[in-house]
Amino acid sequence: MTSPRQQAAARRTAVPSRRAVLATVPVALAALVTAAGPAAAGTTGSSGAGDPYFPLAGNGGYHVRHYGLTLRHTSAAQLQGKAVLSARATQRLTRFDLDFKGLKVTRLTVDGTTAEFSRNGQELVVTPRHALRKGQDFKVTVTYHGTPKPVTDPDGSADGWIPTDDGAFVAGEPQGAMTWFPANNHPRDKSSYDITITVPRGRTAVANGVLLGQSTAHGETTFRWRQTEPMAAYLATATVGEFKVERYTTRDGIQVYNAVDAREASAAAPVLKKLPSVLEWESKLFGPYPFRAAGSIVDHAPDVGYALETQSRPVYDSAPDLGTLVHENAHQWFGDSVSLTSWKDIWLNEGFATYAEWLYSEQHGGDSAQKTFDALYARPASNGLWAFPPGDPGSGAHIFDTPVYARGAMTLHELRRAVGDPVFFRILRAWAAEHHDGHGTTAQFVKLAERESGKDLDALFHTWLYQTGKPNRV
Ligand code: ARG
Ligand code: ZN
Repeated sequence: MTSPRQQAAARRTAVPSRRAVLATVPVALAALVTAAGPAAAGTTGSSGAGDPYFPLAGNGGYHVRHYGLTLRHTSAAQLQGKAVLSARATQRLTRFDLDFKGLKVTRLTVDGTTAEFSRNGQELVVTPRHALRKGQDFKVTVTYHGTPKPVTDPDGSADGWIPTDDGAFVAGEPQGAMTWFPANNHPRDKSSYDITITVPRGRTAVANGVLLGQSTAHGETTFRWRQTEPMAAYLATATVGEFKVERYTTRDGIQVYNAVDAREASAAAPVLKKLPSVLEWESKLFGPYPFRAAGSIVDHAPDVGYALETQSRPVYDSAPDLGTLVHENAHQWFGDSVSLTSWKDIWLNEGFATYAEWLYSEQHGGDSAQKTFDALYARPASNGLWAFPPGDPGSGAHIFDTPVYARGAMTLHELRRAVGDPVFFRILRAWAAEHHDGHGTTAQFVKLAERESGKDLDALFHTWLYQTGKPNRV
């Protein structure tokens, strides 16, 4: 069966996976490996946030409260950048890491004083002149330039700053943020952002949040964007292209900014027209839209193969279909406002956004969620849908595979059948409300669902999230 929704899902996951490249690392072992070793004497920030799938992603020892990024992107695809990270030490630090890959660093200061730094793969290792006290606020300023290149994810897809014929498609899930700015590159650390981008006149640079202003001088235009609500680094964008821009404010007071590549404009128009009604519908179901800004970036980036729920303004590699628009905007609640603490929990993002597509169809004259579920459930045990359970993708190579999206959504459907519609929708709203601008884990979701329903749901979640092979229906 190939409904438009599943084609959309297939498109998002079209990149062939290299199976079983990474062995599963037990969590405790990974934590041990990535934690600062004895030689560090407890004053070196660790090189990773402790994520078993991406051990070097993020860093330990500090929290970034705000990123101030000032970028210039030229017609020769050069990027010049200055990043000011306002951070707070969570331990005494004689040394700490940032994640940053590729671009050349020409100057680095901590609180205005030049600091020593070295590069080791994706780790930018910083030794400040003076040790930082636990609890101390500090500012790191990194000046850099070069030709940014994307990284290749374990699933084979390009991620990060991806050059296009008229600028760049910029999306960073799960790792790519570090290809264009130095970051604490794990969703555990959320921050506010100011992103200022200068591009050749005629091009538009679109980032997250609200456009504070734009000005043109000497053949270049500068765009100033502000994302006030906390955001994970992977959700930042600074997509550059020749775009047609449309701006308006919704009835709920959300500032919408749509930027569309002319080559995608006619296909995108009927779908983008539905954005206000989609956001309204999702707000009714999930609770108030979590950000003050919204919109869409519709690029023409034929090599990318996916869209991303960049915060407040998803980025699409081509004109999205309606299911994809619903999906990426549902992520604003599930994934963006409520963030992961570990990539293993990815079904909390993709299962929820996929189920939003099923619900949209059900409530807009299309297939019911039950029908979508049944068609999937009819797939034989040998089908890739049952290759692994969504709560345990096994490695970063599988976090965007079909079981995460489709069986993740099936898990929510089974929850809905078990608790009934009123309780189910209360669960979704409570999840979005209680964890908004924060984080959530699978264990917390199960607990919340049990609290709201008064039912023991362990067996249901165990079966659908963790049991290998095709589950028997309960
Ligand atoms: N989160 C995106 C979605 O809406 C998919 C991102 C895929 N990224 C990747 N590097 N394969 O489904
Ligand atoms: Zn998604």
